[in-house]
Amino acid sequence: MGRRLQLIPWKTAGRVSEQYASADEVIRQTGWVFNNETGSQLTVDEFVATGDNEVLAYLEVFGLRPPDNDTRTVVEIGCGIGRMTCGFSNEFAIVYACDLDAGFLERCRETVARFGKVDHLRTIEVADGRTLDVPTDVADLAFSYITLQHCESDDALHLAAESVRVVRPGGSVALNFRSRSGADVLLLPTGALIRSLFRIPRFGEWLAQHRTVARLAWQANRLQPDTVLRSLPVGLTDVTIWRHPRSNVSGIGAAKGTFEGINPHHWWLVGRVALPACEPANG
Ligand SMILES: C[S@@+](CC[C@H](N)C(=O)[O-])C[C@H]1O[C@@H](n2cnc3c(N)ncnc32)[C@H](O)[C@@H]1O
Repeated sequence: MGRRLQLIPWKTAGRVSEQYASADEVIRQTGWVFNNETGSQLTVDEFVATGDNEVLAYLEVFGLRPPDNDTRTVVEIGCGIGRMTCGFSNEFAIVYACDLDAGFLERCRETVARFGKVDHLRTIEVADGRTLDVPTDVADLAFSYITLQHCESDDALHLAAESVRVVRPGGSVALNFRSRSGADVLLLPTGALIRSLFRIPRFGEWLAQHRTVARLAWQANRLQPDTVLRSLPVGLTDVTIWRHPRSNVSGIGAAKGTFEGINPHHWWLVGRVALPACEPANG
């Protein structure tokens, strides 16, 4: 029951986004769902440009931009309407773009058709909010941005394990989470309360169009690095916890990395999927 409840605000936002005729209108009305930008003058071009910049910045900073990315496969968990998926499709040979909401996935395909390489795109609906319908060991990188913090803890950990499953040994994961803060004492229970209001027919659609309440409803977990690392069924090597210089999040046995471009309330788990014990480490 709790888990289904967490999916409802996103499904509702997806339904609301389907009501708008043009991509520009979707960005103006619901762009904040993805990158917090609002405004009557916004265009889908500007929206995608923010994603292009972030894709390149994170890949560079995390050391995930080898020259042969154009032969590689990436899995993006929580692609939304394709803000970053365009950049991934231009960088990688194959992009599995995964999202809870089928409406967002349709928009994602349209966005990539305009600004990326749509022949590189495979869209995957995450129907249960936790399982990726993607083959095992198929990818070189699994990437997730501003998504795992919005899942129930159990689903977020399951998706982290799924990201390790779909990446081949020696490939990498880059997963974004939100850190704890004092305000969580109020934010998390208020979020849970508002999520329950999304169940009221038509009221959910109304709530989805009001930025502050909808954002509260998404607040779901504050997982810490050690909890995520301990939960993974297959170990990671070369683990770095990346964060803003002002944050002090860390993980036992993990290196620390700082980057000004990271939201001070976020942290990233970046690591390599361990090779089986008998395989040489040059794969
Ligand atoms: C804040 S948006 C971020 C989208 C994109 N990563 C970006 O930066 O523009 C979060 C996305 O995660 C999706 N999402 C939320 N919970 C999910 C889950 N359990 N499984 C898959 N996708 C989920 C939502 O539908 C939404 O598209």
